[in-house]
Amino acid sequence: MNNVILIGYMGCGKSTIGKKLSFRLKMPYVDTDKLIENEQKTTISQIFESRGEQAFRDMETRCVKNLFENKQDYVIAVGGGLPLREENRKLLADLGKVIYLRAKPETIYERLKGDKTRPLLQGEDPEGKIQRMIRERGPVYEQAAEAVVDVDGKSCEEILKQILEAVQK
Ligand code: S3P
Repeated sequence: MNNVILIGYMGCGKSTIGKKLSFRLKMPYVDTDKLIENEQKTTISQIFESRGEQAFRDMETRCVKNLFENKQDYVIAVGGGLPLREENRKLLADLGKVIYLRAKPETIYERLKGDKTRPLLQGEDPEGKIQRMIRERGPVYEQAAEAVVDVDGKSCEEILKQILEAVQK
């Protein structure tokens, strides 16, 4: 399968870049968070609140498995925590080319300060949370990806160019 899969921390630009990439590659776009919200008919925040994070993580694994049913290839943006499960990383590698959009904690904080839609960043010290999570998750994302694209300070056009180079290799 030749899906193009974008992974990375919350706010790294997976959905913005993913939509532009889908246009460029003439491949449809999907986003695992949106698929889950549509299936559950509620928001990610509500799912975390009423069912808990583990239930959400199980929904993510089911969602990735369902992507194998697609008859054509997609540009797929996956939720930031999805690649943390080893099972999911294996599934993503089988689905296609995995690209990690790597961003510095400062970039993420600037983009996400005040955001209310990410349950893991609510409460005290979102900046510290971002720093700690990126430190822990960075190596896992790197391990899961075939290519890493640094996004800090780059325009969408520059990021797209690098992704297209990696995809066409
Ligand atoms: C999460 C990232 C979110 C969403 C949920 C948990 C995470 O997706 O799946 O809030 O654990 O990093 P985005 O990366 O699209 O924000």
